[in-house]
Amino acid sequence: MKKEKYYITTPIYYINDKPHIGHAYTTITADTLANYNRLKGRDVYFLTGTDENSQKNIKAAERHFGKTKLDKKEIQEYLDVMSAIWQRTWDEMKITNTDFIRTTEDRHLAAVKEFFTRVWKKGDIYEGFYEGLYCEGCETFISEKELVDGKCPIHKEPPKAIKEKNYFFRLSKYRAELLDYIEKNPEFIMPEGRRKEVISYIREFMEDVSITRESIKWGITVPEVKDQAVYVWFDALINYLTGVGFGTDDKKFKTYWPADLHLVGKDIIKFHCALWPAMLLSAGLPLPKQVFAHGFFTIGGQKMSKSLGNVVDPVEVAKKYGHDALRYYLLREIPFGEDGDFSFERLEERYSSDLANGLGNLVSRVLAMTEKYFNGETPKKIKGDLSEFWKKYEENVENLKLHNALNLIWEQIAICDEIVDKEKPWELAKKDEKKLAEVIYGLLERIRQISWALWPFLPETSEKILTKYGILEIEREKGYSQLKKWGGLEEGQKVEKGDALFPRLEK
Ligand code: MSP
Repeated sequence: MKKEKYYITTPIYYINDKPHIGHAYTTITADTLANYNRLKGRDVYFLTGTDENSQKNIKAAERHFGKTKLDKKEIQEYLDVMSAIWQRTWDEMKITNTDFIRTTEDRHLAAVKEFFTRVWKKGDIYEGFYEGLYCEGCETFISEKELVDGKCPIHKEPPKAIKEKNYFFRLSKYRAELLDYIEKNPEFIMPEGRRKEVISYIREFMEDVSITRESIKWGITVPEVKDQAVYVWFDALINYLTGVGFGTDDKKFKTYWPADLHLVGKDIIKFHCALWPAMLLSAGLPLPKQVFAHGFFTIGGQKMSKSLGNVVDPVEVAKKYGHDALRYYLLREIPFGEDGDFSFERLEERYSSDLANGLGNLVSRVLAMTEKYFNGETPKKIKGDLSEFWKKYEENVENLKLHNALNLIWEQIAICDEIVDKEKPWELAKKDEKKLAEVIYGLLERIRQISWALWPFLPETSEKILTKYGILEIEREKGYSQLKKWGGLEEGQKVEKGDALFPRLEK
């Protein structure tokens, strides 16, 4: 039987600097959802990459070389080095992306050309004159109304005044169609608050946009408008098509498009929920099934910024606490979709209470008791059922309530702790061996199932537990519906306590 496909994307990142914890947050979440869909047996395509045709990158390159007016070779050299840093970061963080797209690749040039031609032929591009302001930080045209003290409210820099001949995309032509689509497909924009924000933007503010720039020397050029570079957002959004073969591999494109989920930060929702679907409508392509916008987080209550010196490097955090501890903290601490705060203090609290004393301690106690009372061999099966747990778990992950899904897993951990406290296996060992065997089997089997539910979130930890059980490879072969069936753990299966999952933190 052909596997159901699942195509998930992160935004492609600007490479004027190396990744920080905010970027890692988006990528880790996408990784978790990719894993969840793999667990369910789907054919997952997980795309991330770098947004390279931006003025920000060029400015960073100029700073790097200590001069302006770089030649194309120098720019490309800088982009190659920076993009490699991003790729390496995700590798070091054990992110499981299927593909990594760079917008300076030939395959992307091919996709943009094909796309531009379609929109051009549709009659949705016209020549005009742009006179107004442009914020290079946002890479977007900005109106006087949006400025605060003459500056962009996000980047705190005055925008550039621009006067140039441009080509415009008839975005406003799609107003009614977009509103209608959003109304008929409420799951298209999530969470709900963001949907309302987008609707009001489309209704009241959305205008045609300039999609080429005359003065820009670095960027994609297309035959229709040879002397101008394609506006970086118009080019960047197309990456989601390029990644699955648009303009280069029709079979692949048919397999994976439309995307199931574009995961984005709340800062770039308008581009993804207004401009992008309008571009796709114009090009006659299906729209992505969902765009989900997550919140932003601060660092110890403050905005993350270089000048404050509080930029957190995800690789350093993962090195110190472990990949899974970082993943756990980010996914559990911040209700997905809302804003949050990152603090080392909270991370250490969560590490000690939930990971070391919670999950780690439970696994080590139960395996130690199996070793002590049953020579490490799984006792006889008893009946049980966790189907209610799985139902709720799936509901939450599928609605992207990732923090709730983790809560449910930790509820199960608490239930196991309660069973140990109530049944007191060390006392049963003296008087009731049958009951002892039942209690230990129940605990071992619950932990096996918890480990699988945990796998999308904390793959390393989950695999470590299943390795202690000696069943990782056998279970991998089984399908999802088998894994969550009670009784998967066989009598006589040898388990081993081994090392602690989460060593205590050094003070
Ligand atoms: N290049 C564009 C996206 C183009 S997608 C076709 C861009 N890049 S970015 O590097 O500036 O930011 C990308 C994403 O990083 C944001 O949307 C958001 O997902 C994430 N974050 C950046 N800073 C963040 C925080 N402080 N907190 C949470 N997420 C953050 O925009």
